[in-house]
Amino acid sequence: MPSARPDVISLTDAFSRIHEYWRPRLVGSLNGQAVKLSRLHGEFIWHHHADEDELFLVTTGRLRIDFRDATGEWSSEIGPGELIVVPRGLEHRPVAAEPVELLLFEPLGTRNTGTIEDAVLTAPTDTPL
Ligand code: NI
Repeated sequence: MPSARPDVISLTDAFSRIHEYWRPRLVGSLNGQAVKLSRLHGEFIWHHHADEDELFLVTTGRLRIDFRDATGEWSSEIGPGELIVVPRGLEHRPVAAEPVELLLFEPLGTRNTGTIEDAVLTAPTDTPL
């Protein structure tokens, strides 16, 4: 019998507790999917996720995401209130020329650098806020 009382999550409060860039923090999960918040600034690395689709929803700032595949290279830009779903297998590189706050929605256990293990940029997965 369900008895948990769900918490209200304030994005303002949550982001005020995140002080590192490129270190997603888990604020909830449902049906095997993770809801994460992350602050970004600067250029990330090219990577892809073999089995996970990844949703980016920007709440503050503007985020450019570079993409590349066999047909070439292109970019998309999303701002507050805009989202994009990056399909599994597609190489992408987030670039935040200004500080960005965003919500990520992806399967629990998804590594931020995908198939790449980077000594600096690979974050522990599913770190709670
Ligand atoms: Ni990714």
